Amino acid sequence: MNKQEQPSIPVLIDEQRIRQRVEELALEISVDYEERGEVVLIGVLRGAFIFLADLSRRLTVPTQIDFVAASSYGEGTVSSGDVKFPLNVRLDIKGKHVLIVEDIADTGETLKILLKRLRKSEPASLNVCTLLRKPKFFDVDISVKYVGFDIPDVWVLGYGLDLAGRFRSLPYVGVVDAAFAQE
Ligand code: IMP
Ligand code: MG
Repeated sequence: MNKQEQPSIPVLIDEQRIRQRVEELALEISVDYEERGEVVLIGVLRGAFIFLADLSRRLTVPTQIDFVAASSYGEGTVSSGDVKFPLNVRLDIKGKHVLIVEDIADTGETLKILLKRLRKSEPASLNVCTLLRKPKFFDVDISVKYVGFDIPDVWVLGYGLDLAGRFRSLPYVGVVDAAFAQE
């Protein structure tokens, strides 16, 4: 499918709002980590790759960057609840200040399991930054220090997020259900 044939997907959060919020988050994180020296950013693949690229380039503190891959959805839009990690962190994070960079927090299963795994490596600190947060996450007992946007319980795509593997390269966050689109 070439770009012209792609259906136009309704916008939930446009490019400019994303850019502005990423800048605000980067500033907040840079201030918080200034005293700590270096921060290890751990991007959760695949959805967080664009957010991590944009956020990391706006930070003014030194970073190391690594990735984990998490998958719980397969081809569908309903979480299987069974989170798998086909790729693990390579860096030694013991004694390091670690910040997980996620695309979206929904049921919280991915973060719950990931936090538990990373804690075993004894980082000096462990926090989470997520671009998006859905309402289900409020029922979960996980603290996320940095949140880009709270969104309704709808399937979103673009800016790294997918629908069955597609649409990750859309420059904005789009929504499948047009009823939630930006006016
Ligand atoms: P959780 O484990 O239910 O919190 O789900 C988190 C993961 O599911 C995210 O990192 C995303 O990869 C994926 N996910 C959840 N909601 C959406 C969505 O609306 N669009 C695309 N991916 C989503
Ligand atoms: Mg994700």
